[in-house]
Amino acid sequence: MRDPRVIPTELLAWYDRHARRLPWRAPPGQAPADPYRVWLSEVMLQQTTVAAVKSYFERFTSLWPTVQNLAAAGDAQVMAEWAGLGYYARARNLIACARAVAAMGAFPDTREGLAALPGIGAYTSAAIAAIAFDRPETVVDGNVERVVARLFAVQTPLPGAKPELVTLAQGLTPARRPGDYAQAMMDLGATICTPRSPACGICPINDHCAARALGIAADLPRKTPKQPKPLRSGTAWIGFADGAVLVETRPSKGLLGGTLAFPSTGWDGSDLPPPAPADWQQVGLVRHVFTHFALDLTVMSARLTGEPARGRLAPLHAFSPAALPGLMRKAWALARPPTDRPATTRHHGGPAGNSS
Ligand code: ADE
Repeated sequence: MRDPRVIPTELLAWYDRHARRLPWRAPPGQAPADPYRVWLSEVMLQQTTVAAVKSYFERFTSLWPTVQNLAAAGDAQVMAEWAGLGYYARARNLIACARAVAAMGAFPDTREGLAALPGIGAYTSAAIAAIAFDRPETVVDGNVERVVARLFAVQTPLPGAKPELVTLAQGLTPARRPGDYAQAMMDLGATICTPRSPACGICPINDHCAARALGIAADLPRKTPKQPKPLRSGTAWIGFADGAVLVETRPSKGLLGGTLAFPSTGWDGSDLPPPAPADWQQVGLVRHVFTHFALDLTVMSARLTGEPARGRLAPLHAFSPAALPGLMRKAWALARPPTDRPATTRHHGGPAGNSS
C-alpha cells in the first residue's frame, strides 16, 4: 500500500481528465460555478439520480436564472415544475431558501452560514461550501461512503459505520481544490467504484485500496439489513364534471405537502368520505413506495352528480398531469372520463417512486 497522502493528488489528476460534464459544474481546475446553480443542483440531487435531475435543472435555470428570480416565483408554479422529482418537502424548502437568500442578498459562503438556511443540512452545506466556495469541507454522500469503506476496508455495517467513514473521509480532504476533490470522489463512486461490480482495474487509486488487496471490494460497504416497509392502503377519487376534473392542493405539511392531487383518504387508516356525490367505480390499484411505507392506493373514478365538498374543478384543457407527483400520475393513468371506461379493474404496478 502506498502513502495515502497522495490519494487527493492522484484523484484530482484523474478528475482533470475524466470529470463528468454536468450542467451545474465548472470544468475541473476552473473558478467555481455560480452558488445558485450549485445549491439548486445539490438540493435536486438529494435522493435523486444525476440522470433524473439534469432536465429539471435545465428547466429551472432557464425559467429562473438567478436566486432572485426563483424567490419571486409563485409557490404553485415551483411545485408544478418540481412534480416528479419526489420528496416534496425539498421543493417547499427550496422556495423558502431562495426567499431567505434573496433577502440576504447572496448565499452565505461558509458551511455554518449555509447550514442555517431552510433545507440545507450537514451534507448539502458541506457540498455547497466546497463546490461553490472552495472551502475544505468534507462531503460525504453514499458514493463517498462506499469509496472510503473500500479504501480502508471498513467492515462495520452501514448505517452504524457513518461516523467512522466521515472521520476517515475528513483525513483525506485536501486544502487544495476541495470542490473538485469532492466531485472527484462522487464521480469515482458513480462511475468506477460502483456498488455491485466495481471496475477496480481502471481505478486511479486502486493501489491504495485495502478492500481490493483483500479481494473484498465488491462486498463493501456492509449493510445492516433493512426492516421491510409497512404496507398501508388508501383511496383516491378522480371525479369528472363537464370538461373538468376535481383536484386539490394538499396541505403544505405532511406527505406530498403542497402538491397538486386528487382528493384521497389519509393513507394512515384514517377514513375520509368521497369528496363529492357520484356513482364511484373502482378503476384500478396503484402501488407506490414512500420513504417509510408502501401504499396500495385504490383509484375510484366517476362523473360527479353533485357539488364537491372539497377540492376544486380544474378545466381539463388547462390540466397538466406533469404537474402531479408520481403517485397521482399513476392514478391519473387509470382514470378515464366515465363514459369510455372499461368495466374491468386494472392493476397497475409501476416503478417504485419515492415521494414523501
Ligand atoms: N451528487 C450530488 N452532488 C453531485 C455533484 N455535484 N456532482 C455529481 N453528483 C452529485
